[in-house]
Amino acid sequence: MTESTPVDSTSTAAWANLAAIADGFSPDLRAWFAADPSRASRYTFQAADLTVDLSKSFLTEEILGELLQLAEDTGVASRYEAMIAGEHINVTEDRAVLHTALRRPKDGAGLVPPKGFVVDGEDIDAAVHATLDKVYAFADDVRSGAWTGVTGKRIETIVNIGIGGSDLGPVMVYEALKPYVQAGIQCRFVSNIDPSDIFEKTAGLDPETTLFIVASKTFGTLETLTNARLARQWLWNALTESGAISGSEDDRSNAVAKHFVAVSTALDKVAAFGIDPQNAFGFWDWVGGRYSVDSAIGTAVVVAVGPDNWREFLAGFHAIDEHMRTAPLAENVPVLMGLLNVWYTNFLKAQSHAVLPYVQYLHRFPAYLQQLTMESNGKSVTWDGSPVTTDTGEIFWGEPGTNGQHAFYQLIHQGTRLIPADFIAIANPAHPLKDETGDGNAVKPGQDVHDLFMANFFAQTKALAFGKTADEVRAEGTAESVVPARVFTGNKPTTSILAPALTPSVVGQLIALYEHIVFTEGTIWGIDSFDQWGVELGKQLALQVTPAVGGDAAALGSQDSSTKSLIEKYLELRG
Ligand code: F6P
Repeated sequence: MTESTPVDSTSTAAWANLAAIADGFSPDLRAWFAADPSRASRYTFQAADLTVDLSKSFLTEEILGELLQLAEDTGVASRYEAMIAGEHINVTEDRAVLHTALRRPKDGAGLVPPKGFVVDGEDIDAAVHATLDKVYAFADDVRSGAWTGVTGKRIETIVNIGIGGSDLGPVMVYEALKPYVQAGIQCRFVSNIDPSDIFEKTAGLDPETTLFIVASKTFGTLETLTNARLARQWLWNALTESGAISGSEDDRSNAVAKHFVAVSTALDKVAAFGIDPQNAFGFWDWVGGRYSVDSAIGTAVVVAVGPDNWREFLAGFHAIDEHMRTAPLAENVPVLMGLLNVWYTNFLKAQSHAVLPYVQYLHRFPAYLQQLTMESNGKSVTWDGSPVTTDTGEIFWGEPGTNGQHAFYQLIHQGTRLIPADFIAIANPAHPLKDETGDGNAVKPGQDVHDLFMANFFAQTKALAFGKTADEVRAEGTAESVVPARVFTGNKPTTSILAPALTPSVVGQLIALYEHIVFTEGTIWGIDSFDQWGVELGKQLALQVTPAVGGDAAALGSQDSSTKSLIEKYLELRG
């Protein structure tokens, strides 16, 4: 059961104890490792294929004990049970939160709640698998060439049109699973209402072999619907100009039928756009946009990588869901990582959190996590509407290593801010290239380049943890005047996540891991991590401003003076 009024974590004894520990806290990772030879093994955990080393974080047994108590006091485990059972823990929208149901295996073996559980009158497993089967059949048709465009050519390019969760998830997973993409099929992703986006993404495409997926949970998002209309216009114009269709109403609607499909919870709006509801894949209001990549929202990726890989992807999520549900709190990786983040944010006053994948294919993962974490936990009231009593949300950012090393790591190593960082790596790369010649120095001929890459991964977390003392700098013969600039204090906390390879399952595992970290933090903060009212005002005002930008004098006159003069300047520049 989830409580209608959240526990105020700041009024618990554990919170007070953590505050007392934080007062004057002076971590010393060198000393902690020296004093405890088992520190690495003590704080290394396994969740499915993910080996997660928390030993270079700011954990001690005392801190861990208090954090675990906080998780107990705030009911993290029981709220998770309530979530997966379909309770309406999205209180402000009065909805169940069931993204975990999207990846429950079809055979139903050992599931909790048992296969066939009903929420709000709906058999959840039946609904999920009926949609999955429809998506898989569609993907098979496109991949085999059974589905063709209006002129009978097979589809080569899928353009996904969506934004937020209807874009960031699919594009991130498509990039992550590039090695699994079927030859002859590519995906492109249009999200921004900046017309340059659709212009560039349709540039060079053959309309006869292009299929658009309009992905929008609500089918009411301005950016997506505008881009969908522009895509339809592009398709009609290009097919008519080449003589592939006549331009008659019938030809145009046939073209839409063969070149447009939709993913949405609002099938009536899909039909109004002209897309045959037969060619629409549904999902449900109990899947939040940022939690939807494993729903039909991922259809573009299912086409690209195929149903078998998608099943493996979903199995990866489920493995972590099961870990979250069954692992004791003290070994529960998402819970531990969420608790650590609370420790850093609320007690040690970290302002942001870096996520640094040492996997080029995960280059969109930080952007994906920005929506997942910040849209979920950037809240100022608790789920019963009371003001929060502590900071919430984390500012996530990052870039893949080693690129980040040559950009912003300086600030993490030697700046004044505490920036906890998650380092993510895999053991076996998709492309095991060797450097045949080497560099004549450290890089030997035949050196495995992935090993070289990983040496950076290991070196960075080591440097951040243990730093370099003034004496060590002096011992290198450094002039005394430069010694301070070359000292690394160390004691910069990191978490290392290592997986065997970037398989579809591992990608699913990583996403689920962060979903449940967000859940853990949100529960401790007592907030509804599943609504996103904060994006509404900007949307409303964009609609209100649109007539003014279009030259409507009355609408312009009703703007505040700054907005009015900016629009006037804009109109002047437009000529
Ligand atoms: O940014 C707000 C938001 O509602 C996100 O939560 C969502 O992922 C995105 O817009 C897109 O919404 P839709 O899928 O309904 O077009």
